[in-house]
Amino acid sequence: MTPFVYRRGVLHAEDVDLRDIAAEVGTPLYCYASAGFEESYLGIARAFAGTPSLVCYAMKANSNQAVLATLARLGAGMDVVSEGELRRARAAGVPAEKIVFSGVGKTEGELAYALDQDIMCFNVESEPELEQISAIASAAGRKARISIRVNPDIDANTHAKISTGTYASKFGIPIKEAPRVYEKAGKMPGLLVTGVDMHIGSQITDLAPFDAAAERLVALARHLIQQGHRLEHLDLGGGLGVVYDPHSNIRPPEIATYATTILRHAKSLGLKLVLEPGKLIAANAGLLLTRVIHVKQGAGKTFVIVDAAMNDLVRPTLYDAHHEIVSVFEKAQDALRECVDVVGPVCESGDYLAQGRTMVLPRRGDLLAVMSAGAYGAVQASTYNSRLLVPEVLVKGSSFAVVRPRQSYEDLIGLDRLPDWLT
Ligand code: LLP
Repeated sequence: MTPFVYRRGVLHAEDVDLRDIAAEVGTPLYCYASAGFEESYLGIARAFAGTPSLVCYAMKANSNQAVLATLARLGAGMDVVSEGELRRARAAGVPAEKIVFSGVGKTEGELAYALDQDIMCFNVESEPELEQISAIASAAGRKARISIRVNPDIDANTHAKISTGTYASKFGIPIKEAPRVYEKAGKMPGLLVTGVDMHIGSQITDLAPFDAAAERLVALARHLIQQGHRLEHLDLGGGLGVVYDPHSNIRPPEIATYATTILRHAKSLGLKLVLEPGKLIAANAGLLLTRVIHVKQGAGKTFVIVDAAMNDLVRPTLYDAHHEIVSVFEKAQDALRECVDVVGPVCESGDYLAQGRTMVLPRRGDLLAVMSAGAYGAVQASTYNSRLLVPEVLVKGSSFAVVRPRQSYEDLIGLDRLPDWLT
């Protein structure tokens, strides 16, 4: 159920009128609904409740500490991909024993920090990385728990920029190499082999790639167990898609169907299952609230110019992603609709939030909500065109709190330093 609904003709986040948030905080802003994160997290946890499992939220999707704390309270672990994420997770109260560390290029400093934190597991993505972790851990007299991220060579049928499970991508160790690399890892000092890991991509709307990948991963795990590896967990990654466009007939599988598919392969192994969903937990828990600056009639095209831009939400530009855009004031079903481009103030033709979108023509000052922006929205924002990073607001019932204030101009320009020769 979406936490964003119209009440008396005005869009609300849970019980809060979005106009009130806009009036207090100003636009643009990201608005998140606690219930959105909670319901999707609990839906996933429940789907796997019959088997030992841990949901490690892929916090790259939305790493605001208020979001992390909301999920951590429900028992979530985290999948982190940098020291910054690990520090945020720890600061938000996530226990280290529920944290897995993914990523192809962890630096020596990051590995040492994570080892010191005694995290649950390093998801190792290459042989050089394996050697590096072994060296760091043995020098520190410690054991690093590791799993190898296996690349199962499966095409997830998603956008090329978010597909990770084929041999053409930089991720993981080819599955055909995995038995040899596991054997090597098992003999290396400073390492404790505890798991097998994969992640094949994001916004996957079809069960078949998950089915095929799980089958391969489970077959590998069985082989490794036979070879004497004392595996504890199987990490299936994230990637289950969400509905971005309610009018499209593409429907990602339900979580229960996904769970049945995974469990059909994995249950008999008896290993703890780790899941790394990001988008599924966060995307539909957030929106980007923006105000119309101008409505501009171009030659044969109408542009709705809003105060949010590609630097605030890059998904439409980067992945051709569809985000529903709705008016905060509900429009009548039969109101006249027009085809427009919704664009921001950034000086690039690629700066759009929607192209060729049919909507009731808004007026200057109207509030629009760009939906499904809770994942990979604020975290992928930049200050391009010297625009301020937008604030983030978290709603809980009838309360709301600014969980990240708008950046100030002092913060934005004060970081520059003039060298001696220019002062
Ligand atoms: N695990 C690993 C190792 C990952 O790299 C990712 C996402 C996930 C889990 C979570 O995937 P999810 O459940 O969120 O699909 N910025 C893109 C998505 C990039 C995903 C990167 N890795 C977007 O906005 O669609």
